[in-house]
Amino acid sequence: MLIKIANGWEIPESLATPEDVMLNRRAFLAGAGSIAAAGGLPDIAFAAADNADPTADLYPAKRNPKFKIARELTPEKVNLTYNNFYEFGSHKKIYKTAQALPIRPWEVVFDGDVEKPFKIGIDELIRKMTLQERLYRLRCVEAWSMTIPWSGFPMKDLVALAKPLSKAKYVRMETFKDPSVARGQKAAWYPWPYVEGLTIQEATNELAFLVTGAYGKPMAKQFGAPLRLAVPWKYGFKHIKSIVRFTFTDKRPKSFWEAVQAREYGFWANVNPKVSHPRWSQASERVLGTDVRVPTQIFNGYGEFVAHMYKGMEDERSTWM
Ligand code: MTE
Repeated sequence: MLIKIANGWEIPESLATPEDVMLNRRAFLAGAGSIAAAGGLPDIAFAAADNADPTADLYPAKRNPKFKIARELTPEKVNLTYNNFYEFGSHKKIYKTAQALPIRPWEVVFDGDVEKPFKIGIDELIRKMTLQERLYRLRCVEAWSMTIPWSGFPMKDLVALAKPLSKAKYVRMETFKDPSVARGQKAAWYPWPYVEGLTIQEATNELAFLVTGAYGKPMAKQFGAPLRLAVPWKYGFKHIKSIVRFTFTDKRPKSFWEAVQAREYGFWANVNPKVSHPRWSQASERVLGTDVRVPTQIFNGYGEFVAHMYKGMEDERSTWM
């Protein structure tokens, strides 16, 4: 983000394994365990693959075939070891430090303009929802992309549970704050906790998805366990991790990166190859796990689902700011 590591997206060719996940997930999961055991990747990166998670029985969730990717899935080991999670460090190799995050007990608060504010434990919340798997592409503002099998539930189901009042126009989301486990939060120049926001219309769009699992099992901590957002038509920084609070409000929330540098990280942050980041082009992206660079698509290729929400904003920086 602010600190750009030159060619930080480069992945050794040896990590670009052939993709067999889609064909046989169960076999792949077994295989992933043995890769870790064989020393291909530290076991710790696979920490979420064990059965200790109280919701492990819900995975793998049934795939929703509506969401097509036309690209290979990013190998799990690439994804597990290349992350943005500034709470645990401002570089990509946070998978070890992120294991310090306790993800049970975990409570999620719903407040602001709702019928009745409440708190709910993550396991109760997950079991109230019907999990499904969706294959989504993720386009980071840093011009790299991945394709991930997320498991979770539509955000509109969560909004329905929250019962917002009609005056609520936005939902503001917040990550945990605990500098004793997340040392990155000791960096006082960042406005912790991490905050993101969507309009209610965006939050109830069928693509907006709350993620609880990945690669057919509960999500690893580095992905933002136990609850993270996926809005694939928006740049990756909107995909807030490890959420503890949803606040419904009539005021547009100021998101973390917007508070750090509004000129570079806007509220809308819709993927748009024509709107350059002030310091680099967004015209193309590096596909992680491969040596391929592909053209970036408007709304990351998800225009059929979301373009109607941004009528009149098409060719302006307003799709971004
Ligand atoms: N959420 C929190 N709480 N902290 C972060 O630093 N980084 C964001 C987003 N969510 C971030 C976050 C950015 S910049 C990206 S690109 C994605 O998470 C990366 O998700 P991944 O690590 O699963 O690829």
